[in-house]
Amino acid sequence: MEGVQDDGPVGQRPGESGSRAPGAGRREDASADALRAAAREVEKGDLSRALELASSPLGALGALGEGLRGLARSLEERYRELQQLDRLTTHINEGLLLDDVLDGLFTDFRSALPYDRIGCSLLTDDGRTVSSRWVRSDLDVVKLGRGYAAPLAGSTLEEVFRTGRPRILNDLEGYLAAYPQSQSTRLIVSEGIRSSLTCPLVANGVPVGFLFFSSVRRGAYTEEHAQLLSRVAGQLSVIVEKGRMVSELAAQKAAIERQNAELVSLNEVKSRLLGMAAHDLRNPIGAIGMAATLLLEEFDDLPEAERRKFLADIRDQTRHMLALLDDLLDVSEVEEGRVSLSPAAVALDRFLLEAADRHGLMATPKKTRVVVESCPPGPVRTDPRRLRQIVDNLVSNAVKFSPPGSTVRLRGERRGGAWWIAVEDEGPGITLEDRVRLFEHFARLSAQPTGGEKSVGLGLAITRRAVHALGGEIWVDSEPGHGARFWFTLPGLEEGLPPGAGR
Ligand SMILES: Nc1ncnc2c1ncn2[C@@H]1O[C@H](COP(=O)(O)OP(=O)(O)OP(=O)(O)O)[C@@H](O)[C@H]1O
Ligand SMILES: [Mg+2]
Repeated sequence: MEGVQDDGPVGQRPGESGSRAPGAGRREDASADALRAAAREVEKGDLSRALELASSPLGALGALGEGLRGLARSLEERYRELQQLDRLTTHINEGLLLDDVLDGLFTDFRSALPYDRIGCSLLTDDGRTVSSRWVRSDLDVVKLGRGYAAPLAGSTLEEVFRTGRPRILNDLEGYLAAYPQSQSTRLIVSEGIRSSLTCPLVANGVPVGFLFFSSVRRGAYTEEHAQLLSRVAGQLSVIVEKGRMVSELAAQKAAIERQNAELVSLNEVKSRLLGMAAHDLRNPIGAIGMAATLLLEEFDDLPEAERRKFLADIRDQTRHMLALLDDLLDVSEVEEGRVSLSPAAVALDRFLLEAADRHGLMATPKKTRVVVESCPPGPVRTDPRRLRQIVDNLVSNAVKFSPPGSTVRLRGERRGGAWWIAVEDEGPGITLEDRVRLFEHFARLSAQPTGGEKSVGLGLAITRRAVHALGGEIWVDSEPGHGARFWFTLPGLEEGLPPGAGR
């Protein structure tokens, strides 16, 4: 061959040819030339060239060449395979979160392994529990899905970690017959899976979980598949672990951001409360100061009736400030999630009657009637102080925003396992726009007090928090112009009541 240097027969030492027959020497030269030419081809990367040397005098050498060529071929095959796996793992590694990484694996790994389903379980609970974290399947049903968890100890998966090698189970029905207690095998067989290849994931020397490749075919996996998986198990482990950590960090970050947002809004509420308090306390304090100064300076000159009027003013303003302070304290307590509850048995019908009497009396100047329409007897276990706060807020609103001379109706009903309580009025109702903000802090909406009452806009925000703290819900039914009916529920009836409680 052109360009091939003739530097003597391959493997022949100087003087060796002298002992051979003359014809044999020529044949050997030709064979050696062919061998050298083949060697050059191999050097250039062409491994396909056949050598017809088996019957030549250099047959043994030729056979050696063939052997080397075979070795080179299988090395190249292995190299290509590794390159392909490397490309796959690099691509899979591009996923940031664990779900992206595993989705990438499911899409990309088909050229390397057969499967109809891949599952990934991670060790949780300090390595004691195997928890299914992710599953993707071509099948219609997934029974062993995310959330399934089982102890590692005592399972055959322990053995997979011990050997550190992928495990082939090519007859899962047979395996289930041998290990009928294996719930996970039962589930996966019921999905239609018949064989599985389990790869242990060990990152930085620490077991982190498993990848389960599975197929609907019995006998789908060979030793070659297991070896191939062995070769990339280390890379996959690190990638999966990275995905897990990034996912965990992302979840933590989201939780911190949520907390942060809550703190910011809490802070805003606090600032507004402070502003409100300063503003709303200023007037009564001013009025009290003025009345006290007048009483001090002109006590003797003031007629008895005037003195009494000033004193009554001081008492009323003080009451108002106390009520406002109570509300503010309540809001801050509730907002910080510090709602303290002292449960007791409450006879709801009596409770509503007392509320109606109390508010009816206060509504006398407005000639508004407050009545209990209906309420069955029976105890409810709840916090009486919070319940009173809820009912007082709703009834005082009903009186406050309804025209004088109207009627406010209270009603209690037992529905299913809960109590439903309604406060209904004949006022302007709630407009659609107002509904959105109704339960927010400082929601002073379109309805205005009809008898000069104070309106801070905190009552319903406090009420809703209190209802939630008691385990109930609150909402309003209202057709604007035709009154409002506020409903709230209280859960749980007689269970857990102290002996002799209620009626
Ligand atoms: N029964 C009702 N009918 C019509 N509008 C109502 C009724 N109840 C509440 N609203 C409207 O919703 C707003 C918010 O009510 P909320 O009880 O939170 O505050 P408020 O009564 O104005 O003040 P506070 O209760 O703090 O003294 C009210 O200002 C009013 O516009
Ligand atoms: Mg109110």
